[in-house]
This record gives sequence, structure tokens and C-alpha cells, in this order.
Amino acid sequence: MTTRIALCGAGLIGREHITLIEGHPGTTLAAICDPSPESVALAQKLGVPHFTDFAPMLDAVKPDGAIVATPNQTHAPVALACIDRGIACLVEKPIAESITSAKKIVAASEKSGVPVLVGHHRRHSPDIRAAKRAIEAGELGPLVAVNGMTLFDKPDEYFKAEWRTKAGAGVILINLIHDIDALRHLVGEIESIRAFTSSAIRGFEVADTASLAIRFENGVLGTFVISDAAVSPWAWEYTSGQALYHPRQPGPCLFLAGRKAALSVSDMYLWRHAEANQHWQHPLIRDYRPGDGSLTYVNQLEHFIAVIRREAQPLISARDGMATLAATLAVEKAAAEDRAVTLSEMLADA
Ligand SMILES: NC(=O)c1ccc[n+]([C@@H]2O[C@H](COP(=O)([O-])OP(=O)(O)OC[C@H]3O[C@@H](n4cnc5c(N)ncnc54)[C@H](O)[C@@H]3O)[C@@H](O)[C@H]2O)c1
Repeated sequence: MTTRIALCGAGLIGREHITLIEGHPGTTLAAICDPSPESVALAQKLGVPHFTDFAPMLDAVKPDGAIVATPNQTHAPVALACIDRGIACLVEKPIAESITSAKKIVAASEKSGVPVLVGHHRRHSPDIRAAKRAIEAGELGPLVAVNGMTLFDKPDEYFKAEWRTKAGAGVILINLIHDIDALRHLVGEIESIRAFTSSAIRGFEVADTASLAIRFENGVLGTFVISDAAVSPWAWEYTSGQALYHPRQPGPCLFLAGRKAALSVSDMYLWRHAEANQHWQHPLIRDYRPGDGSLTYVNQLEHFIAVIRREAQPLISARDGMATLAATLAVEKAAAEDRAVTLSEMLADA
């Protein structure tokens, strides 16, 4: 049985979704919806119907599933139209541009039972999966502290797309949201965040650099630094070798320390003592917990197919995606108001 998937938004990531769908034996591209003239030519080349509006496309094509890869502000109306028609959707991250919009998607999905998968692709990545397995198997013992980095240098041309320099984007909402989601997935729910942000390097209204102190509900403490204006090999985009547009630079970007052992991602070294009663005066043994070599975005598509067929619950539901968005927005609020901001206040505010 072939799963027919329609695409809303054939831009940068949308075209990657097309390649993935076309390359998968279990799926076909049912149609493209995008108002841009370039997308008309693309649909012609691919031999699929083209629409400029999502509602007529969903009604005419009746796809099994839909991918929402439109600008953030349009995720909610497109996702709601899919849910309304019983069509499972993969909504690119962030789930929406605001918690108010995200709440509408959560309510519609939960009331109707139509599944929404949010496109936090890292959860499908072999390194994050291996880390999750090690944590769940108790290999690290109870987690104590975590520390991570996303430090890379974007080219100036990247910021010619003005929306990337304005409120609602910047390194926090474009990139940090992935790190926050991975931390929530691996460590647990975030209780509160303190943060400093800076726009000193690029001079935009949005931050180019941020540092975070995080308290998780389970008592684990974490720190994280991020910048899109610093040269370094310490970012998941490099270390995982799984990103779509970046070279591989093997190494670590995330450090998870527990009572029994520590794990670094993406090099996947597990550090432990030889005996249970040993401590900081004993040498550590280095084991290896590699991923399975699978491809993150292919894994995400396969999971989405299972969600469409109602064979799996979304790994990142609308509610989960909303919490990741709330924690990410909490970073900006914490920095602006110079205080600890809780996830619960973010979710209650909207
Ligand atoms: N998970 C990832 O790896 C990843 C990577 C990049 C972008 N994204 C997310 O994907 C989304 C798209 O980002 P992008 O970089 O591809 O943007 P983009 O600007 O390159 O593409 C967006 C496309 O949507 C089209 N569009 C606009 N309004 C539309 C509407 N109402 N209906 C249908 N199409 C419409 C535009 O014409 C454009 O072709 C964003 O939410 C972004 O955060 C995710």
C-alpha cells in the first residue's frame, strides 16, 4: 500500500521532503501547494498536481498525510485544515509562531484524534536515539547535570532573508529550539530557565548568542550556549553527520553526566568507573555506544508513514511540540526580564 503525501510549502526544507518522499518505496507525492511561481514549474517537472491554496488541495487530492513546511506563521491554519479533514500531518518546527496558535492545534488534534507529528527531526537521529536508550537502560544512573553547545558561523547572505533577523526568528527560534527539544527528550521536562542573550556581533534585533541555565523538573541542572556567529565544530549539525546542508565534523556537542556514568553526543563515548565504589581518584573507562547508522530524515519519514497509518503514536505530538516552543520562548523572556521563567507560566500566559 502506497502512502500518498501532499506537501504544503515547497521551499528550502519542503524540497528536501520531496526528495525523501520520492526516494521512499512506500510513499508517493500526491500534490504540491505553494503560491510561488517556482513551485508551479517544480510540480510540472515532478508530474504532480499544483495548487496555490492548501484547502482546495486537501479537498481535491484527499491525501493520506500532509507535510506542513510553510512559514511559521501559517503552520496553524494549514495544520487545522488537515485535522479538520482527518488528515494526519507532519508540521515543521516550531509547531506554530506562538503558544496561542499552538494551543489551537493541540486542542483540535486531541479532540479529533487526528495525529500531528512535529518536525523535531533530531529525535529520529541515531545518536539521540542511542543516548535515549543508554539513559533509559540506566547506564548513566540518575542524571545529575548536562551541558551542551551549538556554536557555528552562518554566512552573511543567510540574513538577506529579513525574517531571519526579526522577532520570531534569530538563533533562538531557528536553532536553539532543536537543542531544547533534544534536552527535553533526553533529560525530562524543563521546570525553569534563566538566560543571557546578546546581539553584539550581528547587531540585529534578535540575539545571535545566548547562554542558558536550566532546571529540569526531575532536579537535573543544565547549561547551554548557542551562537550563529562563532567558529567551532561543536554543534549537532556537524557532529552528527546527519544534517542536510552541513559537513560532518565528528566530535561532541552535548554532555550528559549521571551518578554512574557520563555520555557525550555525538561521539557517543560513555565514561565510567571499573567498579561501583570508585571515585574521582580512579581512572575512567571509555566505552562506545554508537548509533545504528540510519538516516535521521528517512527515519522521520518512516515514523510519519506509521503515524499516517495509525500504527504509531507521534513521537513528538502537538502538545509535546508546544512545550518545546514554550521553553524556547522562555529563553527570550528570561533574558529580557532578567529572571527565572517557568514553563508553566509560559503555557498559562497564552
Ligand atoms: N526541520 C528542519 O530541518 C527544518 C529546516 C528548515 C526549515 N524548517 C522549518 O520549515 C518551515 C519552512 O522553512 P523554509 O526554510 O523551507 O522556508 P522557505 O521560505 O524556504 O519556504 C517556505 C515555502 O512556503 C511557501 N508558502 C508560503 N505561504 C504558504 C501557504 N499559505 N501555503 C503553501 N505554501 C506557502 C513559500 O512560497 C515557500 O516556497 C519553517 O517553519 C522552518 O522553521 C525546518
